[in-house]
Amino acid sequence: MAHPPTSTAQAALDNALRLQPGPEHVRTAELDAIHGRALAYLNVGYPVHFRGPAGSGKTKLALSLAQELARPVLLLVGDDTFDTRSLIGGDTGTRTRRVVDRYITSVMKMESETAPVWLDRALTIACTEGCTLVYDEFNRAPASANNVLLTVLEERILVLPKSGRGETAVRVHPEFRAIFTSNPEDHAGTHAAQDALIDRMVTIDVESFDRDTEIAITVARSGLAEVDAARIVDMVRDFRRSREWVQRPTLRASIMIARMAQRLELRVAADEPRFVQLCLDLLASRAKPGPNGVPDPRQRQMLARLIEHFCGAEAATSLRPARAGIAA
Ligand SMILES: Nc1ncnc2c1ncn2[C@@H]1O[C@H](COP(=O)(O)OP(=O)(O)OP(=O)(O)O)[C@@H](O)[C@H]1O
Ligand SMILES: [Mg+2]
Repeated sequence: MAHPPTSTAQAALDNALRLQPGPEHVRTAELDAIHGRALAYLNVGYPVHFRGPAGSGKTKLALSLAQELARPVLLLVGDDTFDTRSLIGGDTGTRTRRVVDRYITSVMKMESETAPVWLDRALTIACTEGCTLVYDEFNRAPASANNVLLTVLEERILVLPKSGRGETAVRVHPEFRAIFTSNPEDHAGTHAAQDALIDRMVTIDVESFDRDTEIAITVARSGLAEVDAARIVDMVRDFRRSREWVQRPTLRASIMIARMAQRLELRVAADEPRFVQLCLDLLASRAKPGPNGVPDPRQRQMLARLIEHFCGAEAATSLRPARAGIAA
């Protein structure tokens, strides 16, 4: 049976995310298909986990799905310093209560009681109030911090410690849903998620979006003309396919180049030196360095060829597919 939220839960619920898709939010056939699959699992109660490299759109997907579930959303971002308390909450101090009894005016009786004050964190609130928990980059938290999720996801029971007196089991609200994201490539600062936890989720791999989706998102996020956004996306996708990088050239890089070009009113053209400089600023640091770890001039030349190919005078003005390998 539903119960009224505690005062700390109410305060957190008041601050929960009420998500609304903005005008820059893009839906394409590919995104609709991923949404449809994920929603089917979530509606049955299974947690969904988006796994993919940086900039593949995991967080955005998780948040827009959460918004479709039409429940308050609590966002948790995994961190190396997490322990169980970071998810469920804990005692944050003590509250002292004094009762002064002057029933007989000549006699004063005083009672004093000190009790610990428990503060709920996102998982407890989401489980008890039936919210959607978006746990972004959950594998940045140590596996031991995430152990508490095992019974939540399988038995739908949240085990909470009682102040110094063992544990108490709380039944998880039927509307509670969980969406996870993780980045398997980002080894720095991530932990191997335990098999038992992964086994309880439906993992959907999001590698990179298709070309049309990347162009649509770049147009929406920058306001650039579609033909210009397509040139930038094709260039970045080709660089990505070349594997000549140490840091993946992502959709985020395309968006950054496009937004800056739009803001600075630059022509998306290889004979516009400031546009070329912008591309180099955003892409060169991602390229493989030379033998001593210093920037390799050949990689800069490769990028210059890439810019020329996709944004030069020879480049067709119509939209066209990227030619993988030009950068190789
Ligand atoms: N459907 C969409 N509509 C508009 N913008 C989008 C959409 N999907 C992704 N983006 C944008 O693409 C960029 C990358 O997306 P996002 O931040 O979700 O990737 P990520 O996989 O979570 O990356 P990271 O691993 O680095 O956190 C962001 O700027 C995001 O706003
Ligand atoms: Mg993210």
